[in-house]
Amino acid sequence: MAQYNERVDIVSNEILDAVREVLVRQHVTHEEYQAALQWIDRLVKAGETRMFFDNFFERTVEQVTHAGLPGSVGTVQGPYYLPGAPMLTEPPYVIPMRPDEQGDPMVLYGEVLDLDGKPVPGALVDMLQAGNDGTYSGFVGDAPRTNLRAQLHSDADGRFQIRTIRPAPYQIPTSGPVGRYLEMIGRHAWRPAHFHLKLSAEGLAPLTTQLYFRGGDWLDGDGDVSGAVKDPLIVDVVEDKDEQVAQRYGIPVPFFSCSYTWQLRPAGS
Ligand code: BEZ
Ligand code: FE
Repeated sequence: MAQYNERVDIVSNEILDAVREVLVRQHVTHEEYQAALQWIDRLVKAGETRMFFDNFFERTVEQVTHAGLPGSVGTVQGPYYLPGAPMLTEPPYVIPMRPDEQGDPMVLYGEVLDLDGKPVPGALVDMLQAGNDGTYSGFVGDAPRTNLRAQLHSDADGRFQIRTIRPAPYQIPTSGPVGRYLEMIGRHAWRPAHFHLKLSAEGLAPLTTQLYFRGGDWLDGDGDVSGAVKDPLIVDVVEDKDEQVAQRYGIPVPFFSCSYTWQLRPAGS
């Protein structure tokens, strides 16, 4: 037997009231009600429930959770995070990728600071991204589960550098119930290209965030089906000519790079 939970009672009843209000206002018919339930059954059977919720609600939960707090802004985690990505321990760091991984080489230069601007050494950075074909390992395609996923720690100056490939924009699944629904509301399924990052360090509040690339598709207008883009998360992509860095990673110049500085707030704030 579950125990009485006041929070569940209050929040769920407000949700139910809000739904009933729409049913009345829109004169939803019994036929429409049955069709909606069939769609929900299909959503669950197709394993797209988390996708639907993350796409339509996570941005709001993320916003209310972090509104007004100091430090770098975060955004949604989305449904593609897998714990246990390979830990990189020996710089130069290269994200795990297949020998024939397609896509333009890209280097991410990161810096982790606290709210006073002091470097945070040993911050854990957990990173994932879609490939050049817009898919995430472990979900679509036959890439190893760890492909384009990595964890690493910031150095003594709070900095890190990782060589990866430039991710492509992607569509959330279009062939199942989420896709049918997007068609019915006349909405495209695209997300702009991005890196996902989860940053954490002792004594500091963890941050789940993403980086987007200025000038990329689906950033503006009715872009980003998930509504998760925030201006401070859009970075410039540089045509980097740093020979030393190129040599370190065995990539030709120029290569794409981008950089970002995060400021983490104290834990519990
Ligand atoms: C993502 O960024 O991977 C994502 C976020 C929300 C819904 C679907 C995907
Ligand atoms: Fe993503």
